[in-house]
Amino acid sequence: MSISEEFIRELKYKNNISDVVSSYIDLKQKGKNLIGICPFHAEKTASFFIYPSNESFYCFGCGKGGDVITFIRLIEKLDYIESLKFLCQRANMNFPEDELSNDSYKQKMTVYEINRLSAKFFHNNLCSDQGKKALEYLKKRSLSLKSIKHFGLGYSLESKFSLVNFLTGKGYSQKDIIDSNVAYKNRLGQVMDRFSNRIMFPIIDIRGNVIGFGGRSLNGNNPKYLNTSDTVVFKKSDNIFAINFAKNSSLKNLILTEGYMDTISLHQIGFTNTIASLGTALTSGQVKLMSRYTDEVILCLDSDQAGQKAALRSIDILKQNGISSKVISIPSGKDPDEFIKYYKDESKIRFNELIINAIPDIEYKLLNIKNKYNLSDSGDKIKYTSEALKILSNIENDIEKDIYCSKLSNEINISKDSIKSQLSKYLSKISKNKNSLNVLPHNLNYYNKDKNQIFSLKRIKAEETILSYIINNYDITNNILSRVSENLFGINFNKKLYLTIKMLILNNKDLNLNNILSEGFDIEDAGKITKIICDYKREYVNAQVIEECISLIENENQKIKIKDIQDINSIELKNYIVTLKKMKQ
Ligand code: CTP
Ligand code: MN
Repeated sequence: MSISEEFIRELKYKNNISDVVSSYIDLKQKGKNLIGICPFHAEKTASFFIYPSNESFYCFGCGKGGDVITFIRLIEKLDYIESLKFLCQRANMNFPEDELSNDSYKQKMTVYEINRLSAKFFHNNLCSDQGKKALEYLKKRSLSLKSIKHFGLGYSLESKFSLVNFLTGKGYSQKDIIDSNVAYKNRLGQVMDRFSNRIMFPIIDIRGNVIGFGGRSLNGNNPKYLNTSDTVVFKKSDNIFAINFAKNSSLKNLILTEGYMDTISLHQIGFTNTIASLGTALTSGQVKLMSRYTDEVILCLDSDQAGQKAALRSIDILKQNGISSKVISIPSGKDPDEFIKYYKDESKIRFNELIINAIPDIEYKLLNIKNKYNLSDSGDKIKYTSEALKILSNIENDIEKDIYCSKLSNEINISKDSIKSQLSKYLSKISKNKNSLNVLPHNLNYYNKDKNQIFSLKRIKAEETILSYIINNYDITNNILSRVSENLFGINFNKKLYLTIKMLILNNKDLNLNNILSEGFDIEDAGKITKIICDYKREYVNAQVIEECISLIENENQKIKIKDIQDINSIELKNYIVTLKKMKQ
């Protein structure tokens, strides 16, 4: 879908960045700019800047930055299109009509409608005479009418044509009904309901659209749960059940369960932050969705061996996306739904106890390996310690690392000092293996992973100055594009940025943050790019300065080549020196 630049310009004009931001935080004037406490990280002194002249913001504390659209994406946890719609609403503007004529958009809208009507149909069935047995079943499972309504639960009739007839009666084509996956064509060519005699659980996305269903068999038919297959609006591996409710919960973390019934039962007793993973192993798509709302997840999976394995896997995949986790284990092999049913009125207090006693991710991983060893045996103790150190080496927070060193020391009765020194040996071994250089330990952004290079701050500044000069003067920089080659940039990010702005200029596009970001940068990059743009000092930078930057970089590139020759053999080395001498002449 393409959104016109005029629309973006108008949207930004009507949503002045200072006004929008000041509805979230207090801002104070500081010179030409505004300053406030950053809403994206905890800080006491203000390092969050608004640059009205650039229509951007940048936080010197956490590096987040961008334009008003980026700000809304970050603070409202919305994606790009959702943020545009959000700002449209705020400014009383209409979202571009051209989107509505787009075929794939139309098809999606049809599938959403069919899903919504199907959900309504299923729900009405449940409340009708034909749904009596199904409603009884849900009551027997201790679901209240309120929960049934809240989650929009329903019942698919035994007749295999009821939904198809209902939808064709509403004017939908067989193709659209099949595309929505609420029906399928059998071998005789008849179009039949996909779900029959099942309790229906609508799956709803964060914007409130019904995107699919899970259907639980009532008569023991297999499979026990039948789910919508992937459609144009539903990808099982990217979606989460009940995220539409959990995202608005006042509880700050998320509780991840395995099942629909577990989730609904937990919501019913007040844990409105519960979600379910739709019966798949947790995927990074699902975790990314969760990371929009929380940085802590409580894993509440089955306590059997498969569940434990799933917990270990989930811990890693959550961690990779910046989410820490805790693991609840429910006693006597129950799932959360059974646990709640068992404890009845006491279940809320009981479940809360489980949450309080949930085991933090690192501890859970340690416990898991510990069970493999007999710690009174010295050999086992050494093996355990070395596996444990591997786990501890992944902890980034020093305080947390220290706490676990103490715990491990108590547990295996070995001094904390030996553990810490072993851990640092282990860590330095890892970093040697990675061949990392420690020159700029705090700024790995500028460490070129695939080339193993570290660049001087001067050079970084020079690359950024060239980029900001081009961006800020793009109407007059035609000849600089031919003067500067992308190979000048040693930092991959800068090279990519340069290629992007060059491409935009050559295609006569505006060099605004939106256009730049849409060429394969993500929201984290918005901060870096904004910093490069806003750092620009018009009064100091001119063509002469740019020439100086270029020669500084060219000089460094030569030095890097010289360093490279440490790895080549003596003949190559001689040849190389000859070439260098020729170049100098
Ligand atoms: N599931 C699925 N397909 C199956 C079985 C299970 O998609 N054939 C998913 C469902 O999302 C289900 C979850 O895996 O909720 C957990 O399955 P299971 O533990 O077997 O069921 P419960 O959730 O305990 O269901 P119930 O309490 O209704 O028996
Ligand atoms: Mn169950």
